[in-house]
This record gives sequence, C-alpha cells and structure tokens, in this order.
Amino acid sequence: MQTQSGGPGAFARFDLNRVPSPCFVVDEAAVARNLATLRDVGEQSGARVLLALKAFSMWSLADLVGDYLDGVCASGLWEARLAREYYSGELTTYAPAYRREDLPEILALSDTVIFNNPAQLARFADLIKTARDEGQVFDIGLRLNPENSQGEVARYDPCQPQSRLGFPVSQLRPEHLAGVDGLHIHALCEQGVEPLQAIWQSLEPRLGAMFGQVKWLNLGGGHHITRADYQRHELIALLRQISERHGLQVYLEPGEAIALDAGILVGEILDVFDNAGPVAITDLSATCHMPDVIEAPYRPALLNEADAGVSVRIGGPSCLAGDIIGDYVFAQPPAPGQRIAFLDQAHYSMVKTNTFNGVPLPAIALWNSETDALRLIRQFDYADFRDRLS
Ligand SMILES: Cc1ncc(COP(=O)(O)O)c(C=O)c1O
Repeated sequence: MQTQSGGPGAFARFDLNRVPSPCFVVDEAAVARNLATLRDVGEQSGARVLLALKAFSMWSLADLVGDYLDGVCASGLWEARLAREYYSGELTTYAPAYRREDLPEILALSDTVIFNNPAQLARFADLIKTARDEGQVFDIGLRLNPENSQGEVARYDPCQPQSRLGFPVSQLRPEHLAGVDGLHIHALCEQGVEPLQAIWQSLEPRLGAMFGQVKWLNLGGGHHITRADYQRHELIALLRQISERHGLQVYLEPGEAIALDAGILVGEILDVFDNAGPVAITDLSATCHMPDVIEAPYRPALLNEADAGVSVRIGGPSCLAGDIIGDYVFAQPPAPGQRIAFLDQAHYSMVKTNTFNGVPLPAIALWNSETDALRLIRQFDYADFRDRLS
C-alpha cells in the first residue's frame, strides 16, 4: 500500500529534540481541523458522525472530539468502557461476536449494539429482553456484508470470500429484520467517495423495500474524508439522497480521517553500519510501534527525506529480521544520536503498539501548531512492560 500522508504540514518546523525518544507527537490543531471538516460534512448532509475509537483513542483529546462529533463507536467492551469514561455523545458498539458474559455491560453502556448476523440476535434475545425489562434503552443493529469488494488489499476487504464480517446481503430476508432498528455496512479502507457510490448502487435495488423496516443506516468507516482530494460535495449529496429517499438517519464512523496527517513518531538513530549499503538501527520498531508497516505492508513517509544522497535501510532494535521500516534517502549518512520522524502516525500506530523484546513504548506528546504549546502527556517505563506479563 502507499502512504496516504499529505506531507509534513506544520511538523516541518517542529524541533524533534523537544520530546523524548521515541515519542508520538500529535498536533491538536490538525486534529481540530479534521474534526471541523467532518462536522461540516455531518451538518450539510444530516449524517451523524462518530469517531471509531479503534483507529484513534487518544482520550486526552476526548473533549475536543466531543466539541465536533456526535459520539464514538467501540469495538467491544473495553472500548465501550473507555467511551463512557472519557467521551461524550452517542456510543455504538459492534464486534464480530460477543462473549455472553460481556453483553449485559455492553448493552448497558451503549446507545446502539450491532450484531454480525441474525443468529447472534436470536441467541442473545434473552439478554436483550432482560436489559430492556430493567429499563435500559438501546437500538439494535445488524451488520451486512454488501458482497461488493471495492478494496485493493484483501486483508482490508470485509467483502473478501468467506469474510467473517457481516451477514451476506444475498442471505438477507425481511424476517431477519424483526427487532432490528438499523443496518450497518463497513466495506472501505482509506477510500474516496466512488467506491461508496458503487456499493450503494448495488445495495439500493436489493434492499430498497427493506429500508422501510429500519430507522438508520450506518455506513461505517474507511472514508478518507479529510484528505485534500476527497470529493466531499459528492459524499454530502449521496448521504442526503439516501436519507431523503428512504427516510433513514445516516451514520458515518470514520477513524483514520480524524487523525489523518495529525501526528508523527519521533525516534533516534542508535547505530549505522555498512552491509551492502548503509543500515541504521533506531529506537523505533516497525513490529512494536508501527505494525502496519509490516502488516499492510506500507512504507511510512520520513520527515524531510532528501531528494538525493545516500539510501539508508532503517530498522528497529528488535530481534525480528523483518523489523525493517524501509529504505530512505539522506543527504549525508545519518549519525547515532540523530533524530528522525515518520509522518502520519497518529492513527492506528498508537493503538497498536506493543513491547515485544522489551522494546520501550513511545511517549505521547500533544503539540499545538498554532500556539507552539507542547505537553508531554504520558511516558511509559519498565513497569508497563513487566505488568503485561506474569
Ligand atoms: C466497523 C468499523 N467501523 C469503522 C472503522 C474505521 O475505519 P477507518 O479508520 O478506516 O475510517 C473500522 C475500521 O476497521 C471498522 O471496522
């Protein structure tokens, strides 16, 4: 995959020595700009917009998120707890499957709980009834698999053959919608509006009559709405058309779009040597700090990469031979102690970090590119590593 970074933005003038290494630095002004764009889409289209916590759950910015969006969506019990502890507004929870013992709390915390197929709904009907008898108020949703692959990478395509994500739309019958308040579809990844239009064109004729049985339609995430080239007018027109034609409240649950180009990961060169070309070992690890580099895979953009010079293979301090971030051009070979930073690391990287090999977790800092205020929010230490083990 290609990096979707639109460039360094204000980070071009950020002094990397102002933070400890390694460290995520998130620009709250950039997050606010993304949030304002998403609020604008919501206001103009009538859609309600929820932050997908799985992508960006930096809860020190929860109040800022609440200033702009209608709420958040969670992927299970722990994110639902985090949502209720720090975030405001609506909470929608969806997981491909639930543990029976978790569901009562999920129902109590959430405004909407979405199930992966009608059999799950039937299996948990007793828990749903008990919760409602106790006075809890929540909507029930059903996730559909639109069976319309629009992604290029199978790993990120919920419509791939034998997908476990959502009930295949070809199997849906009107009776499956008994007790269902809304439908959920998530089938995109870092995409523009055309794939969404294509999915809608294939779904509308199949589902048209059934839309009368539900109140809302959640179109999931994967919409790169805050990217400079995203066709927001087309999105707004589509969302309005869906809601007006079928009397539906439309929801979007972007994650990445909230934090796109809003954070960097700062690290330090620890060693440089030659093995058929320069190799640099850093305190940043692909496998521990940016696992999507290996998983997607993709090559993250390096801040201020030179146009010409020497190509250096940059990798992490772990034992994994494949702990390689990529090959990058430097005007001069880098030296131990030199700071570097990778762009667009606020989303998905921070939520996926781990301490394999005892590699330290990056600190988390909040910078405001408009005021230049910098706050070190969190540093991790040996105890964070030890206490995940026993
Ligand atoms: C159900 C669901 N909703 C929302 C999202 C957020 O997607 P993104 O961060 O790509 O916008 C995801 C991501 O996997 C998802 O699975």
